[in-house]
Amino acid sequence: MAIQWFPGHMTRAKRQIQDKLKLIDIAIELLDARVPLSSRNPMVDDILQGKPRLIVLNKSDLADPRATEQWMNYFTHEGHTCVAVDSQTGTRVQEIPVKAKEILHEKIARQIQKGMNPRAVRGLIVGIPNVGKSTLINRLAGRNIAATGDKPGVTKGQQWIKVGTEMELLDTPGILWPKFEDQLVGYRLAMTGAIREQILNVDDIAFFAVRELATRYWPSLKERYELDKAPADPEDSEEIVRIMEDIGRRRGCLMGGGRVDLEKASGIILRDLRAGKLGRITLEAPYDDMPVRQV
Ligand code: G4P
Repeated sequence: MAIQWFPGHMTRAKRQIQDKLKLIDIAIELLDARVPLSSRNPMVDDILQGKPRLIVLNKSDLADPRATEQWMNYFTHEGHTCVAVDSQTGTRVQEIPVKAKEILHEKIARQIQKGMNPRAVRGLIVGIPNVGKSTLINRLAGRNIAATGDKPGVTKGQQWIKVGTEMELLDTPGILWPKFEDQLVGYRLAMTGAIREQILNVDDIAFFAVRELATRYWPSLKERYELDKAPADPEDSEEIVRIMEDIGRRRGCLMGGGRVDLEKASGIILRDLRAGKLGRITLEAPYDDMPVRQV
């Protein structure tokens, strides 16, 4: 279900996270490796109030590995520790507790110096809807954690989930809202499935997707749909619509009079893209046309 974010929701979400910050040592900021900037809440620095943070690029199985490496360098350059994982299969998720301890090593060393027995590191996973927070919690816990809901008054006291012996996570993640106002961000999130079609038109999302793919990943698009003619100018809307029609014809999306059912073709393109059938794709690079926000 699409979540509609209104100012009231945002204030409440921000407060809920800030209440939880008092309980934890480190925030785990979960981003989608295919759209690391667009899946980033623009107010995250303000919300986390200087709490130590680990950046986790999730769904890296669907992202372009070269781009993921660039993003890792980018975040490292910005002074963050960053790890790329696949929460669905569990690839590299075990690096999360290790990196969290590394980030907190000074605090842990001080505890030891004072003769204290350092307790497990306490973390909170934060991220926008659909980025994979529940999947990651379940993966780290090694079992299915029932959703407890995040309604004030319902969860009395917090449940801690053990991750090995050295880390504990809050069972309810911090839900941040995506940045909707920027059209480019909206389309990139819709392409990855973070924003549902009710908000943006399916044909428009697919048009945007084909334009991005024709620009950056033409060989994948060509191979998947057996296309022959690369667009001379991917910025030319007519050329993009022609490609969408070609895809529709290849997939039998035809209406009366042999016209292509673009809506049906659009659905196919988006399903393929989100399922990784067009290959491993990243929709934004750290140093390209994106107006790079302060990280
Ligand atoms: P959320 O709590 O942040 O809202 O996200 P959630 O864990 O529900 O994950 C959203 C979708 O993303 C789920 O797919 C989930 O399986 C998928 N997902 C999470 N992490 C990864 C990952 O690292 N790689 C890939 N490929 N997918 C991931 P879904 O289609 O909504 O549900 P389902 O089909 O898995 O049941």
